Amino acid sequence: MELPFQNEELKGKVAVVTGAGGVLCSMFSKALAACGARVALLDRNLAAAEAQAKEIAAQGGTARAYYADVLDRNVLEKVRQSILEDLGPCDILINGAGGNNPRATTTNDYFRQGDLEKDIHTFFDLDTAGVEFVFNLNFLGALVPTQVFAPDMMGKSGCSILNISSMNAFTPLTRIPAYSGAKAAVSNFTQWLAVHFSREHIRVNAIAPGFFATAQNQALLFNPDGTPSERTEKILSATPMERFGKPEELVGALLFLLSEKAAGFITGVVLPVDGGFSAYSGV
Ligand SMILES: NC(=O)c1ccc[n+]([C@@H]2O[C@H](COP(=O)([O-])OP(=O)(O)OC[C@H]3O[C@@H](n4cnc5c(N)ncnc54)[C@H](O)[C@@H]3O)[C@@H](O)[C@H]2O)c1
Repeated sequence: MELPFQNEELKGKVAVVTGAGGVLCSMFSKALAACGARVALLDRNLAAAEAQAKEIAAQGGTARAYYADVLDRNVLEKVRQSILEDLGPCDILINGAGGNNPRATTTNDYFRQGDLEKDIHTFFDLDTAGVEFVFNLNFLGALVPTQVFAPDMMGKSGCSILNISSMNAFTPLTRIPAYSGAKAAVSNFTQWLAVHFSREHIRVNAIAPGFFATAQNQALLFNPDGTPSERTEKILSATPMERFGKPEELVGALLFLLSEKAAGFITGVVLPVDGGFSAYSGV
């Protein structure tokens, strides 16, 4: 893959990436491998992680895929043991697994009284199990892998943790209250952890991607016939750069935040990569 710049410091480091079978984190894994890191790709979808690891290996990189549910500490501990044997102790952790769920999503942006008689998903239909699923996946899904892999970083230098937050963490987006709240928790946790691990010299930061069209948000952004949804039109009009981001446009932020030389005094930040979305009031 074409990198915006090389991060030489990553050479030989072990990077653990969760959600690595997905769109954004497979790309992160490739970028890390292209810089010479030895990458452990963790995903609940093992086939997806394996396919990505294969691609990395075909390009001359070092990568191994592992089945892991980011909410299952026992499985993660076993995976950690395997990674120790296969690649070595973890230096870099990317907490990438995350996402929303339809059970925690309302159909409409605004509630109106008549909605209760309609066959739509209102605020009052939000399923607590669905809300819990989203909070657990995004928040505990960052916390539990950190409990498992951060001990490998103690007493070393150049170790770093990167969480993936979202635009909705700054100001909630309509329809997705649980995902917005959970990502706000991820941003908050990023700051908390940065302070907590500061004396061990482990930097903790987050990237907040703006809008990137991926499989996960396909149904919200495009109509079944592939035309842009009303939501897409709203997003683009609220993005001063008037387009979706390309996943590879996150790589510069990734390599920068992981670099001790470039970002050695940066910890606890949530860096928006959003075409100006979070800066724009709409007027
Ligand atoms: N795509 C966007 O526009 C966007 C914007 C902001 C934030 N994000 C965040 O970026 C991250 C990656 O998103 P993406 O768009 O690449 O999503 P994706 O759906 O393509 O990838 C997510 C991956 O996580 C895996 N996963 C889900 N639950 C898991 C679990 N319990 N344990 C282990 N793996 C699990 C899935 O199998 C999938 O491979 C997520 O945290 C997402 O919330 C995405």
